[in-house]
Amino acid sequence: MEPVRIAVIGAGYWGPNLIRNLTAFPGTTVPWVCDTSLSTAERAITNTPARATSNIDDVLADPDVHGVAVATPAGTHASIAQAALAAGKHVLVEKPLARTVADGEAMVQMAEDAGLVLMTDHTFCYTGAVQKIAEVISSGDLGDIQYYDSVRINLGLIQSDIDVFWDLAPHDLSILDFILPEGVRPVAVSAHGADPLGVGHPCVGFFSMPLSNGGIAHAHVNWLSPTKVRTTTVGGSKKMLLWDDLRPSQRVSVFDTSVEVIDDEQARRRAFVSYRTGEMVAPVIDDTEALQRVVAEFSAAIRERRVPLTDGRSGLRVLKVLTAIQQSMASDGSLIPLDLEL
Ligand SMILES: NC(=O)c1ccc[n+]([C@@H]2O[C@H](COP(=O)([O-])OP(=O)(O)OC[C@H]3O[C@@H](n4cnc5c(N)ncnc54)[C@H](O)[C@@H]3O)[C@@H](O)[C@H]2O)c1
Repeated sequence: MEPVRIAVIGAGYWGPNLIRNLTAFPGTTVPWVCDTSLSTAERAITNTPARATSNIDDVLADPDVHGVAVATPAGTHASIAQAALAAGKHVLVEKPLARTVADGEAMVQMAEDAGLVLMTDHTFCYTGAVQKIAEVISSGDLGDIQYYDSVRINLGLIQSDIDVFWDLAPHDLSILDFILPEGVRPVAVSAHGADPLGVGHPCVGFFSMPLSNGGIAHAHVNWLSPTKVRTTTVGGSKKMLLWDDLRPSQRVSVFDTSVEVIDDEQARRRAFVSYRTGEMVAPVIDDTEALQRVVAEFSAAIRERRVPLTDGRSGLRVLKVLTAIQQSMASDGSLIPLDLEL
């Protein structure tokens, strides 16, 4: 089978991970690496058959290029992706899809009109842990989802072009988009952020989203934490789940724990609720590198001319929440309604 030829645009921190995975995956090759800094592109092609360029036109004019993977700063995603789509190339774009909803919508429309694949690299949705969580939730094991609570904090790289929400929240928003059961969606968002360093945008942030089933999702994103924490708790009416991504030997734990309101009038006089605690199960997690699955999904979507698991529309839903988070912060944390029916 002919390999799918994917050029990589942007070879800073994340681009080389894409290049490595696209090169290692048997169904894809990397014909070009493009970066506005030619020396960066040249460094990134070491030990690969790819050519380096600082001119994206070299890539887009090459008829042998089937698709591009865009790993440039967020503000450049829309123009690069649109140029690639206009040249007839399939596009895998890093999170966040774009910087404005209008740009994101234009990208989705363009790809759909041209019959080209537009995929968002929502990497976490391809991890064994998140796939297991999605499986546990969709099996009904947890019951009704009551809350999602995430802590995503570390001493992070303070970015000049985006705030901590645009950097880290796409992970939680894309995970939620992926794992929430059919019919359960965030209906609004309220966010608070702080810029204690005076860099011009928040480095510490909190956001909450009421869910359509009466539950709530909450996340803490922070570049100013002395230690790295990546824990998420998902509470259900039947069971509860803890995901600690920094604990490779037991990333996901499912607790047979629940709390129920006591119906019986007589018994209620003694206690309002009853607590049930049973066994804890740590399911086996497939630790295949997530980007290997991202690359496999992008190439399969191109070959099969189908919508990928994390398509442009999922990127657009994440983008809509990020934009609403900005609006909420600009109005002292007020609750901004969300319409994520896409
Ligand atoms: N999926 C993930 O988990 C994950 C992790 C890290 C970063 N990212 C995303 O990857 C993207 C890149 O992040 P990064 O940390 O690698 O940034 P970076 O600044 O390290 O690298 C960006 C590179 O793009 C190049 N560049 C800028 N504009 C360009 C243009 N118009 N054409 C070609 N090259 C251009 C720069 O020279 C630089 O080398 C961002 O969108 C970020 O959100 C995703």
